[in-house]
Amino acid sequence: MNIQPFLLERLQSVYENTVEYNLTESGFHPFSLQELLSPTELHDITNTVLGYGQTNGSIPLRETIGQLYNHCTSDNVLVTNGSSEANFVACRSLLKKGDEVVMMIPNYMQIWGIATEMGCQVKAVHLREETNWAPDLEELDQLVTPNTKLIVICNPNNPTGATLTTAEQARIKAIASKNEAWILSDEVYRGAELNGIEIASFYGGYEKVIVIGGLSKAYALPGLRLGWLAGPKDFIENAWSYHDYTSITASVLSHKIGEIVLRGDRRLDILNRNRNMLNANLKELQNWLAAKGDFFYFIPPKAGGMSFIRYNAPGVNSTDLSHWLRIHKDVFIVPGDCYGMDGYFRLGIGERKHFLLAGLERLRSGLEEYI
Ligand SMILES: Cc1ncc(COP(=O)(O)O)c(C=O)c1O
Repeated sequence: MNIQPFLLERLQSVYENTVEYNLTESGFHPFSLQELLSPTELHDITNTVLGYGQTNGSIPLRETIGQLYNHCTSDNVLVTNGSSEANFVACRSLLKKGDEVVMMIPNYMQIWGIATEMGCQVKAVHLREETNWAPDLEELDQLVTPNTKLIVICNPNNPTGATLTTAEQARIKAIASKNEAWILSDEVYRGAELNGIEIASFYGGYEKVIVIGGLSKAYALPGLRLGWLAGPKDFIENAWSYHDYTSITASVLSHKIGEIVLRGDRRLDILNRNRNMLNANLKELQNWLAAKGDFFYFIPPKAGGMSFIRYNAPGVNSTDLSHWLRIHKDVFIVPGDCYGMDGYFRLGIGERKHFLLAGLERLRSGLEEYI
């Protein structure tokens, strides 16, 4: 096997279920079925016949997802097992050995790993801390050439929580269009904006755009494993063929629950619950950081249940720090090393407030002891 380890996912998988304070999550404290559904809905769900369902996603679910984008029908949507499967299927359908891929960095490194394993040439275009994690579009313009097959965006961004303006999106589309490159925009954190204004999706406006979405992050339902791809009909049909080889279908239960939660007011209620949590927790985090003077440098996120923090301790490696804190203090943070950015850590702020505060207190005492 040639594939490089997916550092972030593997680290989380190994430790997140055994640590007392897991602060590595990037989404929100998940709903239980009881909290999420009315008694009638619960009753309907328990009467579901556990067949395969429609393998590309039930028609009502695909129609509901289509309504999240402009001019998007059920034919433009493929439902997957989580957005991670959507990313995988998109790469497999679009890329081949030798293709050039330009990817926004820092980023969730799934596509970097897959494209590298496929023999693509992957290049980084950077978000710059000095401009509040805005993308360096001059750099993008220079990197993208007629040889570029795919530009990979994460908007809102994991780990910085930065979002792209519509002007930046338009410029990225213009650069892609000039070079006939595809754009893949992972928008799994869309809907979790702190100011309550949903950012524009990349979907549409250019014929080579693929958008990734899912219920794991902004909707606080990772256990459903429901994601999707939205894009041109031909691309979606081809991606469906790959999906036949990966998991065949997402669960019929997830299809049904997805239909319920993505509809109208229910969707907005879920997003508001999560945003309120995020706004309250961000204030707590900022107070906590401020108490340490200039030890931390932090650009507040615009969206998503996470914060990306630089710490001022030369020589202290982020992976060593994360392991020490976990082993000695039972608190778990994502080392910047998972993003190739030592000297930073990612901290989840989408948890219940009392849990976050207790975790931060543990972190404070750990940092004081270790550094
Ligand atoms: C940007 C991004 N995309 C995709 C995923 C995968 O999420 P899931 O497969 O649960 O939808 C993650 C998980 O952290 C993520 O941060």
